[in-house]
Amino acid sequence: MPRAHIELDRKAVVAPVRRRTFGSFVEHLGRCVYTGIYEPGHPSANEDGFRMDVVDLVRELGSTTVRYPGGNFVSGFRWEDSVGPREQRPVRRDLAWRSLESNQVGLDEFARWLKLTDSELMLAVNVATRGILPALDLLEYANHPSGTTLSDLRIANGTPEPHDVRMWCLGNEMDGPWQTGFMTADDYGKIAARTAAAMRMADKDLELVVCGSSGSGMPTFGDWERTVLEHTYEHVDYVSCHAYYQELDGDLGSFLASATDMDFFIDTVVATADHVGGKKRSKKRIDVSFDEWNVWYLKEHQEQEARETDLEWRHAPRKLEDVYTVADAVVVGNLLMTLLKRSDRVTSASLAQLVNVIAPIMTEPGGPAWRQTTFHPFSITSRLASGEVIRPVIEAPVYETARYGEASLVDAVATVDEDRAAVFLVNRDQRETAHVTIDVRGLGSSRVVEALTLADPDVYAKNTLAEQDRVTPAANASATLADGTVTVELPPVSWTAIALR
Ligand code: AHR
Repeated sequence: MPRAHIELDRKAVVAPVRRRTFGSFVEHLGRCVYTGIYEPGHPSANEDGFRMDVVDLVRELGSTTVRYPGGNFVSGFRWEDSVGPREQRPVRRDLAWRSLESNQVGLDEFARWLKLTDSELMLAVNVATRGILPALDLLEYANHPSGTTLSDLRIANGTPEPHDVRMWCLGNEMDGPWQTGFMTADDYGKIAARTAAAMRMADKDLELVVCGSSGSGMPTFGDWERTVLEHTYEHVDYVSCHAYYQELDGDLGSFLASATDMDFFIDTVVATADHVGGKKRSKKRIDVSFDEWNVWYLKEHQEQEARETDLEWRHAPRKLEDVYTVADAVVVGNLLMTLLKRSDRVTSASLAQLVNVIAPIMTEPGGPAWRQTTFHPFSITSRLASGEVIRPVIEAPVYETARYGEASLVDAVATVDEDRAAVFLVNRDQRETAHVTIDVRGLGSSRVVEALTLADPDVYAKNTLAEQDRVTPAANASATLADGTVTVELPPVSWTAIALR
């Protein structure tokens, strides 16, 4: 049985727990919006057509900030299409996802939905195929109180109070050849700098996110961030990171170590941003907005796309509806632990996405909504993590992975607040239970109040429409605290949370 020992010291503070770490993402893609969050006529729909069964699950998930409306979708989007009387809104082709967009949900409706879920809006502007003026117009429509044409239009459309959007993304994945209007780093850096400067003339306190590479595997990764930040450093607050992981070629060991890759990715982007800041002798620090992360069966999606012969333009087709396994949930829980561990520089993040499209929540049109396996580690972490993040000292055996080299069999992170603490752990061992001791004297904890583990003898078990709760977390009765030490057994391929008083 592998044994691991973890030391937690209240003084080893990384940073405060950032509520924005628990952000998510709603894109006009597939059935995320239509028949996902919005389905007039559904038995649970409210007067705006929003499914309240989904609202309840989003609240339980504990998602905080929601990035909207894309993603690749935003690069072909005219925001004006999606406001005003619904019957007058145009139907457009969305080239990014080869779908029809009815614009029945737009900024004002989505802002109403956010109120139901108690979340913050993070809005993306189209810098790819539009320009500075449409971005300024959207800003005026969204945030100006009243007395201008566009703010008065918002009021006439039924939203008297400004949306007061603080976080704005300057486009999406602008280096990707799949992006409508993709650009070179130099071109994008110049446009992003001018757009940001103009938006800040309207409101100097906006928090602006410039696009980093669309993934660390892009050939221009690193150079892209450097060039873009050389243009934009003084105008923006965040650089974005996007990362998706999946098990490839049956290599579960590497997949389970995905968080080590995310950590390396963050290191590289932070170092690049600091390099640019150093060269500029700037006192300012650029943070990371990890605004797309998840498990995504991307390879299967790309193969399916290559085989696609049905080129019909459809509204809300079923797309990217990945069904997640126990192993996927362990990886998602572990990636979230890494985001917490890097809270010194990753101050905002978005699980991509929220409903139906590579999502923790699934729905059936006219039918139920349910939790995927990945829902559980996210919601429990969002509920239990508070106060400050503590960097643990972990002594654990390592194993060799084909993709990421050596990885620890056990990973962990902790948070501590005035009267409570939480420890999050994974066991990446595929065969054996890990026996873990955690020295919590440095936290002053005296009692285990809750211990939950997500595991299953079948690591590929899933929740489906037919079996919605096949995989749920269970109480871990092995977790005990005596003489300042927590002892716990972690089953093979498992994620665990322990709440302490
Ligand atoms: O989240 C799905 C897609 O992944 C987003 O639209 C895009 O930004 C990324 O490539």
